[in-house]
Amino acid sequence: MSYNLSRRRFIKTSAISASAVALGTRSVARGFPANEKVQIGWIGIGGRCTRLMIEMNKVTDARTVAVCDLKPDRIEKGKELMAKDKPKGYTDFRKMMDSEKLDGILVVTEPNNHSPLVVPVLEAGYHCFAEKPMDTTVQRVDAIVNAARNAKGFYQIGTQRRYSPTFLAGMPVILNGKIGKVTFMQGQWHWWRGSTKRLGERDGWGLTEQACHHMDVMSWAMKEKHPVSCVSIGYNQDHMPPKTYRETHSATAFKFPDGTIFSYTHLFLLAPHFEKEKLWVFGEKAGVDLPAGMMYGRDKSEKKIAEPAIGNWGTGQTEQLFDFVDNIKTGGKRIPNANVETGRIGTLMSIMGRTAMIDFDKNAFEPRVIKWKDLGSTTDK
Ligand SMILES: NC(=O)c1ccc[n+]([C@@H]2O[C@H](COP(=O)([O-])OP(=O)(O)OC[C@H]3O[C@@H](n4cnc5c(N)ncnc54)[C@H](O)[C@@H]3O)[C@@H](O)[C@H]2O)c1
Repeated sequence: MSYNLSRRRFIKTSAISASAVALGTRSVARGFPANEKVQIGWIGIGGRCTRLMIEMNKVTDARTVAVCDLKPDRIEKGKELMAKDKPKGYTDFRKMMDSEKLDGILVVTEPNNHSPLVVPVLEAGYHCFAEKPMDTTVQRVDAIVNAARNAKGFYQIGTQRRYSPTFLAGMPVILNGKIGKVTFMQGQWHWWRGSTKRLGERDGWGLTEQACHHMDVMSWAMKEKHPVSCVSIGYNQDHMPPKTYRETHSATAFKFPDGTIFSYTHLFLLAPHFEKEKLWVFGEKAGVDLPAGMMYGRDKSEKKIAEPAIGNWGTGQTEQLFDFVDNIKTGGKRIPNANVETGRIGTLMSIMGRTAMIDFDKNAFEPRVIKWKDLGSTTDK
């Protein structure tokens, strides 16, 4: 079945990110006859890639030409998943880039292993879709930001809520002032599953690997502003040391330049009843429950804004791939909804939370106040 989101509708919804529109465009466009497919290469055929490949099979304008992984069994898995396109397999991504005529490359490697691949892909001039988080340290995020800002191709990050019909309908209600001035934001990602022995460094710890999705949504609600300060308290349920293991529970609060506070809990190992995703934005007149697609007034009114996406963390994931391919096919002129600037803020926010939660010198979970400037990013504008 082909994916049928109309391009016109998509471009309309894409336009709501004012900062994205203001960024200007670059392109490595080649002329695409209507019936020619966009040539796709993949790097990193793990768990997430499996889902993305299933979704990519719905995008009829795309053809997977090559798949690359360090492990031969993963290459075979990629070939199987994209069997209709008969892709070639590679263990070396540079060889893949040298040997194949590619238009776009998707990087789906581990969170702390994005910049060594994304930077050369961008420098070689390809359009690049890379999974979130951008990477797991400020230095590696800055490396991608510098490469993406100077690239001929565009960079798109896998924060799929930026492509979700539910979030795309709910966010303008907030951004256009229908709820009055935003006063407070509350979020949670609570899980039944989890382990006290999940490794920290690979993921950049829990907030970075996962909650970066929600940091991204809330900076969107703040009109792409980043917070000025943050405090975070967290721990590992089995007292595993934070240098090695991820936190299992954390509570983090961010303060934005206009004083708005975003309070967030990220919890694992709960009874199934409590497994819930929450993203609430409160204003002077009303509040929006973003995943529910609902607005609730202080006057007790209720208004449905969109179809709900509660519990569907994958909302927007087909749309983001459709847009990646469509953008390439139409010349790479559009700044993606989830772009280098949105990805930078969402990722740095989550690194900010982790920095406020863990004192790595003491190998201890210790709450501290961290200011944005303490991160030392060299890519602030
Ligand atoms: N958007 C979402 O909702 C979502 C959901 C889950 C995971 N993710 C993200 O997807 C990314 C991948 O996560 P995963 O769980 O699939 O990881 P994974 O460990 O299952 O897969 C990573 C793969 O990359 C391969 N790889 C590493 N270095 C390579 C290189 N130099 N060349 C070729 N292949 C290489 C590994 O061999 C492995 O097969 C992460 O950034 C994660 O945060 C996103």
